[in-house]
Amino acid sequence: MPPGPRGLETLGFFGAGSRAGILGFLVRTSRRYGPVCGFGILGARIYIIDEPALIEEILVRRQHEFARDTGATLLRELVGDGLLTSEEPRHRERRRMLQPAFHRAQIATYAQAMVGEAAQLAADWATRPSVDVGADMRRLTLAVVGTALFGADMRGSADAVAAALRRVVRKGAWIAPLLALGEPLLRAYRRRFPDGPSLFFGAERRDLDAVIAPIVARRRAAEGRDIVSLLLTERDERGAALNDDDLRNEIVTLVLAGHETTAAALTWTWYLLAQHPDAARKLRAELDAVLGDRDPTLDDVARLPYTAAVFNETLRLYPPALAFGRRPITDVALGGYTIPRGSSIFLSPYITQRNPRWFADPEAFLPERWDGPAPAKFTFFPFGGGAKMCIGEPFSRLEGVLVIATLARRLDLTLVDATPVEIAPGAALGPSRPIMMRPIQRIAEPVI
Ligand code: HEM
Repeated sequence: MPPGPRGLETLGFFGAGSRAGILGFLVRTSRRYGPVCGFGILGARIYIIDEPALIEEILVRRQHEFARDTGATLLRELVGDGLLTSEEPRHRERRRMLQPAFHRAQIATYAQAMVGEAAQLAADWATRPSVDVGADMRRLTLAVVGTALFGADMRGSADAVAAALRRVVRKGAWIAPLLALGEPLLRAYRRRFPDGPSLFFGAERRDLDAVIAPIVARRRAAEGRDIVSLLLTERDERGAALNDDDLRNEIVTLVLAGHETTAAALTWTWYLLAQHPDAARKLRAELDAVLGDRDPTLDDVARLPYTAAVFNETLRLYPPALAFGRRPITDVALGGYTIPRGSSIFLSPYITQRNPRWFADPEAFLPERWDGPAPAKFTFFPFGGGAKMCIGEPFSRLEGVLVIATLARRLDLTLVDATPVEIAPGAALGPSRPIMMRPIQRIAEPVI
């Protein structure tokens, strides 16, 4: 066993002793015990890896030796057996079916929806004295996923989706640590009853199904070029089409994975910009010079490097997927230790991306650091890596740059309450309280 907490110290895993709960414990443990550390909880073995070469081995080079971990087992109870939760060969099959919707050329067609939704929000913000940026970023990103991926207006569903997710997160917070012990039972139940009712999230799933039902119904009736039409026409290796449950699972997966993460990143972006006036000034200078008084288009994206750096730097400090897990399928040798089959391995962009070994002044918000050469492999991995890497990365990056550009060009945002905001691990790494901000309409400064 590598070094790590023992005895009572391991109770921190249950969220005790840190405002950041289990995340605080994982960060403290990793910093204190080094790049490969481990501990036992109720007979389960848990490892934290903060060594880029080993992270690459797990996610890429030796990925076939590892399966998804507890988070996916739990998520499976909400979203079913879809792209985000399945293992090979089903995962590969689903990925092939969904990939065309995420090809670069296809992503480019979503740019208009991204700018359009952001411009509408800017107009609305201009009339309001203060706004809850987190709630509005969720509404915005859900509307973008709805329009871009499903050709559906999901604007009115944001509160219902957010309420269902809040309940999932609350339940998940106490179920997840218990799964350190009970996960084999849960997985055995699922193997025996793959289509059996959800053990934990039945009500929440019903609420989400009600939100997506019109999308499924309408698309069955009409041909379209969106992702649902794609799923309806694609066939698996045996020539079979997706059944209704599979289709609903993939739609719920994309709705959840596709909006909450990007919304969290954008929320932190506004918070960080409000606290770093120099960075905000540089951002505005770039937007004024490149865009003047018009909204961005897809062609502008390559000419907005500082805007992209702001988004990257936010993803470094506040990676929405703060940690994800893998489980060795057999005993594996890793970093000089033997990690037994079935152990839990935590990989955490939050831990690694704030490690002073890889980033100078790691806690500082410095978009300028993205001017230089790219960081070493797997010191920055907010979207994961390997065959299960985020399929939505190009979508999210495009949305990040276009939304920041559209809103920051028109408005300045200042914090209503300047007391620091803590992190709160939820469905994505969000803020511990609503971030209220004052939008102030701005006029482009003349370019000299
Ligand atoms: C800032 C935004 C986002 C972040 C930080 C993020 C992060 C991640 C990470 C870390 C994974 C890999 C998890 C693992 O290996 O266990 C993942 C997978 C996934 N993401 Fe994202 N994601 C983001 C946006 C999106 C968007 C916009 C979509 C869809 C429109 C999306 C859909 C998915 C799906 C379907 C998977 C599963 C892929 C697979 O297993 O093949 N994500 N995401």
